[in-house]
Amino acid sequence: MSKNEDIAALFNQYVMHTYSPSVTLVRGQGCKVWDADGMVYLDFTAGIAVQNVGHAHPRVVQAVSDQMTTLNHCSNLYYTANQALLAQRLVHLSTLEGKCFFCNSGAEANEALIKLARLWGHEEGRYEIIAMRNSFHGRTLATAAATGQSKIQQGFDPMPVGFTFAEFNDLESVRKLVNERTVAVMLEPVQGEGGLLPATTEFMQGLRALCDEKNLLLLCDEVQSGMGRTGHWFAWQQYGVRPDAFSLAKALASGVPMGAIVASAKLADVFQPGRHASTFGGNPLACAAALATIDVIESEKLVERAQEAGQQLRESLMAFVEKYDQLLDVRGAGLMVGLVLDKPAKDLVTKCREMGLLCCMAGEKVVRFLPPLNVRDDELEEALDILDDALDMLYGEEAEEAEAEETPEAEA
Ligand SMILES: Cc1ncc(COP(=O)(O)O)c(C=O)c1O
Repeated sequence: MSKNEDIAALFNQYVMHTYSPSVTLVRGQGCKVWDADGMVYLDFTAGIAVQNVGHAHPRVVQAVSDQMTTLNHCSNLYYTANQALLAQRLVHLSTLEGKCFFCNSGAEANEALIKLARLWGHEEGRYEIIAMRNSFHGRTLATAAATGQSKIQQGFDPMPVGFTFAEFNDLESVRKLVNERTVAVMLEPVQGEGGLLPATTEFMQGLRALCDEKNLLLLCDEVQSGMGRTGHWFAWQQYGVRPDAFSLAKALASGVPMGAIVASAKLADVFQPGRHASTFGGNPLACAAALATIDVIESEKLVERAQEAGQQLRESLMAFVEKYDQLLDVRGAGLMVGLVLDKPAKDLVTKCREMGLLCCMAGEKVVRFLPPLNVRDDELEEALDILDDALDMLYGEEAEEAEAEETPEAEA
């Protein structure tokens, strides 16, 4: 057995089968990762939008190592400078002029948004949140209940109540759901798992106006789209509106597990001691990683790089759409890019991996490309070459002819 297979066997014996991993990865550097048998891949998943500054960025490694040997955790019974400094950076970057709460994952950050909204509306008996169809907000019970995909909820009923679902990019469908119990509207400005679908400016601005009119909170889930990924620090910034609060996780601390919410002044003091908490949330280690990540994104101008490289990538993918009938469209923003197929995307993702390019699926028919934001031009080109070869092998003329030959006439 290869080393890849050895580790897979051990994994499958002892780890619950909630995932279907492919190869065993043992090392990462920049945009590249290596598997246990020494094969090297271009990582256009970046750990699902986590490694925005690339694997093992020296400044993040240094910050984490230094913090680990100084004070990695002490609980929130005590003040720590890193948490204060990180909150200050996030509040300033967002210009929301409020405060942050720290936790450990995207689901937990969204859970905090939901609890914050409910507490804010509690005295008036308002708790209902309007979320979007096809959204994804996490796997805890409340965030799964807020997720507009029934497959995420199936088998876990009874689900927590208080969530209704509108059509993404359809303001009227949101307006129709508003009632005396409604407290907030919650959405991903660019739907990630739902297929890399950006909100329209009209929708986002309409939602802000509706929320102002009805005294509702506008909550954005920036877990996947945040930290420069879409060519803006936070995806909502491209719409000329501000949410009342938003969540972050994934790329926030470059792979040290961390989530956060950033809230505007009107929500800044809703959580008081005892109302919400997390043992690990905002510990000095995670905050050191996040502070270093922000430093790298700023000093290497990675927000701008995501815009520029994202445009290059989308244009090149559009050329493939012209070339292959099986490809329908290119979607997304910045370096959060989706290639839409007319068939399940699994074969293409597998073929790319076999040829040295890691990408992943978003829904059944979309291939998602999320390279580190500091992906180099030559790495982009190499990835596109691999993709072109993979597409040719699966859907090129020769592949089509071979398939036609295999198909008996009666069935053709
Ligand atoms: C938009 C969005 N929200 C929430 C989550 C959940 O984050 P986590 O897996 O860290 O709990 C994800 C994860 O993919 C996500 O993409």
